[in-house]
Amino acid sequence: MNFDLEKLVRENVKRLTPYSSARKEFSGAAQIFLDANENSFGSPLEQNYNRYPDPLQTEIKEKIARRNTIKPTEIFVGNGSDEAIDLLFRIFCEPDVDEVIITPPTYGMYKVSADINAIRVKEIYLRTDFQLNIQEIRENVSERTKLVFLCSPNNPTGNSLRREAILKITESFRGIVVVDEAYIHFSREKSLIDEIKKCPNLVVLQTFSKAWGLAGLRVGLAFANEEIIKLFNKVKPPYNVSQIAQEAVLRALENESEVEKTIAEIVAEREKLIEKLNAFEFVTKIHPTDANFVLLKTIDAEKIYKFLLDEKIVVRNRNNVEMCAGCLRITIGTPDENEMLISSLKKLAV
Ligand SMILES: Cc1ncc(COP(=O)(O)O)c(C=O)c1O
Repeated sequence: MNFDLEKLVRENVKRLTPYSSARKEFSGAAQIFLDANENSFGSPLEQNYNRYPDPLQTEIKEKIARRNTIKPTEIFVGNGSDEAIDLLFRIFCEPDVDEVIITPPTYGMYKVSADINAIRVKEIYLRTDFQLNIQEIRENVSERTKLVFLCSPNNPTGNSLRREAILKITESFRGIVVVDEAYIHFSREKSLIDEIKKCPNLVVLQTFSKAWGLAGLRVGLAFANEEIIKLFNKVKPPYNVSQIAQEAVLRALENESEVEKTIAEIVAEREKLIEKLNAFEFVTKIHPTDANFVLLKTIDAEKIYKFLLDEKIVVRNRNNVEMCAGCLRITIGTPDENEMLISSLKKLAV
């Protein structure tokens, strides 16, 4: 399929003269900075944060590029991957004109972001095995379809989408395919990052909020070809990732082996927890998961949810989500937390 990025981008974005920040206009070595109206006296803290951060997060991108086989110019760093999702709408989708496809049950922000940006959403439900309905997705693509959002491993179902199915859609679609890999580090499947070289219309999202344990910092990533990343940079707020967040991510990237260890622990805990949850009669199905959570079908999700709340344990009630009736989504906790969850559920089982 011929891919023409120019044709997809909103006219106002094409015409846009982006904001040129002081830190972007001058990034060399100076002794005195009087260009950005910062407070030159410093901050009322032990450490100074009086200077604006690097608008393009150069060091983070260089470090991440070294870990993958991509270039810094193929990376966007955002205020969580939620920022990348919102920017995709703002770059590509004309309000009240364009549309996107999402594949529920899936992460709720695709639809919320679409609604905020006044973009029509076509919902093509996953099949009963929670895999993509390729045929139906294809049939629902119109002239106005700019984005297809796919989530793998998918939230809230936990399963990975088949790689070949994702690539089939990417190959046959003229618009942008966004593959959200927020949970990829817990998965048996490989990331699709390598495919961005071959697929000019592929955007892969990842985040520091899950496996990296840095949800509070709000740092997310988008990987795509250089031309798409240039558009992200054109539209994003100038200083979208704070100095504290950038410094902390750089330090975290030095501790990757620790992250690998935690991932292995979470995956091991996941398998233990699944086995224990399976023993309860009120659990009728545990959906196969590649993420740091499990979706379990129960005979009475509302009752179990409320019971656990009384026990001061909060899980996610997905009972009202289409295709998830009776389901609770439970994040894998520490061994102690998981043990407390099981002990509480035993009380309910009695
Ligand atoms: C599939 C998926 N994508 C993105 C996000 C948001 O990630 P971030 O914290 O990077 O904004 C979440 C958060 O739960 C998620 O489940």
